[in-house]
Amino acid sequence: MGNPCFDQISPISHDRHIVKADLDLETKNKYWSLGLKAISRGEVGAIVMAGGQATRLGAVEPKGTLSLGLGLSSTDSLFWHQAARIARLLKLAKKMYPDSSPTIPWLVMTSDSTGEETRKHLIKVVKDVGLSMDDIIIFDQAEIPCFDFNGKFMLRSRSSIATAPDGNGGMYAALRPVIPKLKDLGVKYFHVYCVDNILCRVADPHLIGCVIDMDADCAGTTVEKTNPSESVGVVCLESGHVRVLEYSEIPKELAEKRDPNGKLSFRAGSVAMHYFTMEFLEKVCDESVRLPFHVAKKKVPYVDLNTDQLVKPTEPNGIKLEQFVFDVFPHAKRFLVWEVLRNEEFSPLKNAEHVGRDCVSTCRRDFDVECRRWLSHSGIELPKHNPVYISPLDSYEGEGLSEDTRVATNGIIKEIRELLIENGDVHNNS
Ligand code: UTP
Repeated sequence: MGNPCFDQISPISHDRHIVKADLDLETKNKYWSLGLKAISRGEVGAIVMAGGQATRLGAVEPKGTLSLGLGLSSTDSLFWHQAARIARLLKLAKKMYPDSSPTIPWLVMTSDSTGEETRKHLIKVVKDVGLSMDDIIIFDQAEIPCFDFNGKFMLRSRSSIATAPDGNGGMYAALRPVIPKLKDLGVKYFHVYCVDNILCRVADPHLIGCVIDMDADCAGTTVEKTNPSESVGVVCLESGHVRVLEYSEIPKELAEKRDPNGKLSFRAGSVAMHYFTMEFLEKVCDESVRLPFHVAKKKVPYVDLNTDQLVKPTEPNGIKLEQFVFDVFPHAKRFLVWEVLRNEEFSPLKNAEHVGRDCVSTCRRDFDVECRRWLSHSGIELPKHNPVYISPLDSYEGEGLSEDTRVATNGIIKEIRELLIENGDVHNNS
């Protein structure tokens, strides 16, 4: 994006900013059944962006394939989690629309850095959750050269330039050849999300139903920004076009501005989960749409020409150019903000454990808290000292839980009933 023009910046209007938690039950149920109806007709696709190099996490394997240690399955990764949610949705759609044959094509974007391991892993994952590789379309994004801080190419070996994936906005060019197949399949709506959010409600029927009902062509999921200095980009309007203003770009007076209710005016914190119609996706995948490149200072492995050894730097030493997935927002004609609760739907895996936030243990913690919230809604309270993880194969968002439900706790699968008996002191309202 160009430099923002601050006197032209305004929040998204109230009527296009939907707060999921404020929806009444009737509306929520309407959206849910509309969303499941679209799924039952095979009209919803899920696109996961999984081409990033995860330099902050620093793992050898791709982020989506790492075991989270929940004990829910033998694969137990973020990919497993997402596949299980998809499998559950298919079941729910079939239950609501028994005469249908629901499908959710799952599109997985990989890169040179993640492709091979991801493919191998997905074969195990689909088997684990009862999907088929036929339901998955894996596509690769492009790689582009990296530079050092003096603007020179970096070498990966004596005969090759160091390259990196072209950012999650590389998805559009990478999807271009896949669009005809998706049209043939009859996919009309897409949920696009990052691989790293353990709480991601993949292809959330509430969202899908809402955007269909409100005839949006594009939507961005947000969480409420409550602290003006929080480092999250905000969705807003600039001269009537939607854009994400990055936290480094927003001036203090705008960041701190509050509305009559005391909330931050620019509170639509973008969490990189989006919705597009086929029509919108087709438009922004066209070659004529050129997205800007953003500069990211990252750790770029390079060859030491004295030793011919690959050096893996511990600090950022180079520049990757990245396109951002949200830079297509200005092309939206009927945009919608979909605000969700952070503790229910957003807990990303970004960092190594020592950072203490957005790491594996915080993902596990937040999923445990979410599972307990679901149980509590069903009248089941379990003591806090052991983690409790509910398989997404059994519940997508807390539905269908009872004492018969099996959960993972300390790596062992047990029925909730067993846990309640073991902890005679627990309170059980059911
Ligand atoms: P991040 O910006 O967090 O990047 O990506 P990352 O690669 O996961 O981690 P760092 O910044 O190197 O530590 C957000 C999402 O976009 C995807 C990632 O896989 C993640 O799901 N992504 C990022 C891509 O698919 N391709 C890219 O080129 C970059």
